[in-house]
Amino acid sequence: MTLFERLASRQLIVVTGKGGVGKTVVTAALGSVLADLGRRVLLVEVDPRENLHQVFDAPPSGGEIVQVTPVRPETAGGGAAHGSLWLQNLQPKQVVEDLLRQHLHLELLTRRVIASPIFQHFMEGAPGLKELAVLSDAERVVRQKGKGRSSHAPFDLVVLDAPATGHGVSLLAAPHLVADVISHGPIGAQARELTTFVSDPERTAIVVVTLAEELPVLETLELREALDRLVGRTPELLVINALYPPFPATPIEVLPNDEFLIDLWRTRRQVNEREVAHLAEAWPGSRLLLRMLPADRGPRLLAGLRQQLLEQQEQTA
Ligand SMILES: Nc1ncnc2c1ncn2[C@@H]1O[C@H](COP(=O)(O)OP(=O)(O)OP(=O)(O)O)[C@@H](O)[C@H]1O
Ligand SMILES: [Mg+2]
Repeated sequence: MTLFERLASRQLIVVTGKGGVGKTVVTAALGSVLADLGRRVLLVEVDPRENLHQVFDAPPSGGEIVQVTPVRPETAGGGAAHGSLWLQNLQPKQVVEDLLRQHLHLELLTRRVIASPIFQHFMEGAPGLKELAVLSDAERVVRQKGKGRSSHAPFDLVVLDAPATGHGVSLLAAPHLVADVISHGPIGAQARELTTFVSDPERTAIVVVTLAEELPVLETLELREALDRLVGRTPELLVINALYPPFPATPIEVLPNDEFLIDLWRTRRQVNEREVAHLAEAWPGSRLLLRMLPADRGPRLLAGLRQQLLEQQEQTA
């Protein structure tokens, strides 16, 4: 089984890492590769800024589940394209309110509860509640598969672009945290179920994204340690993103004013190489490298990242 086949067999992939390292574009590229393996994949973004759709040049989801087209490289020659790719921008607050609606059944009562200051206060302040809501939504979306419910398309796999704050550790640790505090009732039961879901390496995988720079690498190693300590999980994959292109061995002819740029290129690339070597020692397990590409967040960037993922899969298969 290749790395991507292994990831495609999971139900939830949580993509995490420090802010601005490329989580959103990696979520898109990885999700589209997994959809090409024949899976029905839902990309979920938990970020009020909504920018996942830009990678596909699609309109904003505004909370709805919308289908997008995975870019297929010209070289793929068709492939097993029975899968499909969808995306959704998820508002945790909305999910909590939906959950409440399911449990209370009565619309009027639900509206009153939601409008009450006590509930609003509870939702903002209760540690882990929003995280629990996000995970429970992901679990529900994949669980519906085979049950014949048609309100949502059944999905094989959710790729979750986790919020940057707390590195996604708080997201993955939430079920355990909540289960410890609330042992009774539907929330306690839900928290226990989700603890099992995120601890199960057959169902949930963790992908960490980083840049090959000193501080992001240190934080990435701390993240690995925190995931182990607080969630009891080891990430399945590390994506080292936005590497400068290799610096040529032969001298390059440059105009005097361009020397600064050449110097920048050489020094950043040296830092990248040093940190990639650091990670090769300090990070056991699968690592994939992605070059920095001269494209904005959009289909061209997506196609370039996808191609690099697929090339490395061939090398590691
Ligand atoms: N390999 C790459 N080549 C070129 N540009 C890239 C690459 N990876 C990411 N980018 C660009 O870097 C910026 C940050 O990427 P992205 O939004 O995916 O990061 P993020 O980790 O999701 O950020 P945040 O934590 O703010 O959500 C985007 O403009 C994206 O297009
Ligand atoms: Mg993002």
